[in-house]
Amino acid sequence: MVPVNCYGKRRIIGQDISKEELIKAGVKQSLIPDLKSVILMPNEIDTIISELADKISQDYKESEELLLAGVLKGAYRILPNLAEKITIPCVIDFMSVSSYGGGQHSSGEVRILKDLQENIQGRNVIIVEDIADTRYTLGTLLSLLNTRNPDSLEVCCLLDKPERMQNTDVDIRYIGATVPDVFVVGYGLDFDSKYRDMPIVAELKKECYL
Ligand code: PRP
Repeated sequence: MVPVNCYGKRRIIGQDISKEELIKAGVKQSLIPDLKSVILMPNEIDTIISELADKISQDYKESEELLLAGVLKGAYRILPNLAEKITIPCVIDFMSVSSYGGGQHSSGEVRILKDLQENIQGRNVIIVEDIADTRYTLGTLLSLLNTRNPDSLEVCCLLDKPERMQNTDVDIRYIGATVPDVFVVGYGLDFDSKYRDMPIVAELKKECYL
């Protein structure tokens, strides 16, 4: 599937989309002043995840099960939604890694805070992420998990920021949407632990993180 191109999809709040629409969509009122534009509304995210699930279901139709390895904390929203829509039975597991600390730039050093509990040897594994930025995190995870001899290992990301890519060795089989190089929050993505619980993907105002 071709990722949804979000470069022209930014809707400026108060101009192209109203605050009332955002509240109706489930965005908490006190967070709205921090947001500049909306990149994806809940229905758009849902459609993207349905398409990812359809493609995955098709690709693995001969398999009896799939192991979805969600990368916390960002994957906490996409993973259950994706698992529900995939037609093959899914085993769910999580890892927790951190590369950013409280900052906004990847350090390039990825720390494993919590490993998978499942033994992935001989199984079909898909790493599930909210976003690929420099791809250092995915590079580290792919190298680590490949040493455990899975039958197959692929990656599914809701969002990709192509302009920020540093690790060009990382191939992502399933990408939902490509986003411009702006600070995106919501649907699992945070800044300083905030905004993760928003049901939309939005652009954070510069004064909130600079
Ligand atoms: C974010 C995101 C990815 C990673 C992508 O996680 O969820 O795991 O950064 O960045 P990269 O492509 O530059 O490596 P973060 O470290 O912020 O942790 P979190 O998911 O707990 O917020």
